[in-house]
Amino acid sequence: MSIFRNKIILVSSAIGTLIGGTVLLKDRMQGASFEKNVRADGKVVIITGANTGIGKETAHALARRGAHVYMACRDMVKCEEARKDIVLDTRNPQVYCRECDLASMQSIRQFVKQFKAEQQRLDILINNAGVMRCPRTLTKEGIELQLGVNHMGHFLLTHLLLDTLKLSAPSRIVVVSSLAHTRGQIALDDLNSVKAYDEAKAYEQSKLANVLFTRELARRLEGTGVTVNALHPGIVDTELMRHMGIFNSWFSGLFVRPFVWPFLKSPLYGAQTTLYAALDPDLEKVSGQYFSDCAPKEVAEQAKDDRVAKWLWAVSEKWTGTLTGTAAVS
Ligand SMILES: NC(=O)c1ccc[n+]([C@@H]2O[C@H](COP(=O)([O-])OP(=O)(O)OC[C@H]3O[C@@H](n4cnc5c(N)ncnc54)[C@H](OP(=O)(O)O)[C@@H]3O)[C@@H](O)[C@H]2O)c1
Repeated sequence: MSIFRNKIILVSSAIGTLIGGTVLLKDRMQGASFEKNVRADGKVVIITGANTGIGKETAHALARRGAHVYMACRDMVKCEEARKDIVLDTRNPQVYCRECDLASMQSIRQFVKQFKAEQQRLDILINNAGVMRCPRTLTKEGIELQLGVNHMGHFLLTHLLLDTLKLSAPSRIVVVSSLAHTRGQIALDDLNSVKAYDEAKAYEQSKLANVLFTRELARRLEGTGVTVNALHPGIVDTELMRHMGIFNSWFSGLFVRPFVWPFLKSPLYGAQTTLYAALDPDLEKVSGQYFSDCAPKEVAEQAKDDRVAKWLWAVSEKWTGTLTGTAAVS
C-alpha cells in the first residue's frame, strides 16, 4: 500500500515539475516588453487586421494609452466584437471599426476616402494585417493573395495616406514583417507566382517585400518628419496558421501543440515590438530600420538590395495604379 502511495507521490511531483518547468519556459519565451509609460492621448492611429492576434492587442494597448484607434478590417462582425472588448476594458470610446479589405483596391480606396472625411490627421499607420501559406488565391485585381494583401494592399494604403501623414509630422509608419523575410527571394521573373506557386515561398517573398518597401520608402521620406520601420513580432500564438492543416487537426491539438506551446509568444507579447516602433520617443528620427524584441536587428542581405527595392517599387506602382489611378497586373 505504502509502495503504491510513494509511486503516486513520485508521479505527481514529476508532473508538477514538468508543468512548473513548462510554465517557466513559456514565461522566458515571451521576449522583450515595451515598458515605457508613453501616452498616446489624442493621437490618430490606423491598424490593419486589428480584429484578432497581434493587431487586436496593438489596438487594445494604444486605446489604453488614449489614442483614437481606427481598426481597418475586412470582417466587420469580428471587428465589432473586438472593438467592444477593447472599449469595455479600456473605457476609451474613440475606437472605430472601418471596413478595409486589403485584397481589394476599391475597398482600400473607399476606406481612405471615408477616413479622410472623418480625420484631418494621422499620427501612426500600422501595416499589420497578413495572410500566411494559403492555397493559391487571387485578390480582386488578380494579384497572388499573400503578395497582394501583405505587400501590395499596404503599398496602396500607405501611398494614399502619405499626404495626411506628412501634414501630421512627426508621424510614423510601422510595417509588421517577419523573420521569414530572411528566407525570401523576390521572383523577378514570376512575382505573381504564375509559373509556379509554393505557399511558403510566396509568404517569404511577401515579407521580404515588406522590408524592401520600408527601406525604399524611408529613403523617399527623408526630411518629411515621417518615419517608417519594419519589425519581426516573434513567433506568436495567433490565427496566422489557419491555412496550415498540420496545426489545425485534432492530432496536432493533442500531440504537436502541447510541445510547441511553450515556445510561442502570446499575442500580448507579440504586440510589444509594434508598440516600441510606434511609440518609443527615442525612435522619433529613426527610419528605415528593422526591429525584433524591441531592439534594432540586422536584415537579411537580400533585403539590402536597393536595385531590387526600386524594381519592386516600380512594379507596385504599376499594379496598384498609384501613378495612373488604374491598377494593371502583368
Ligand atoms: N504570428 C506569428 O508568429 C507572426 C510571425 C511573424 C510575423 N507575423 C506577422 O504579424 C502580422 C499579424 O499576424 P497575426 O499573427 O496576428 O495573425 P492573425 O491572427 O491571423 O491576424 C491577421 C489579421 O490580418 C487580417 N487580414 C487577413 N487578410 C486580410 C485582408 N484581405 N484585408 C484586411 N485584413 C486582413 C485578418 O483578418 P481576418 O480575421 O478577417 O482574417 C487578421 O485580422 C502579419 O503581418 C504576420 O505576417 C506573425
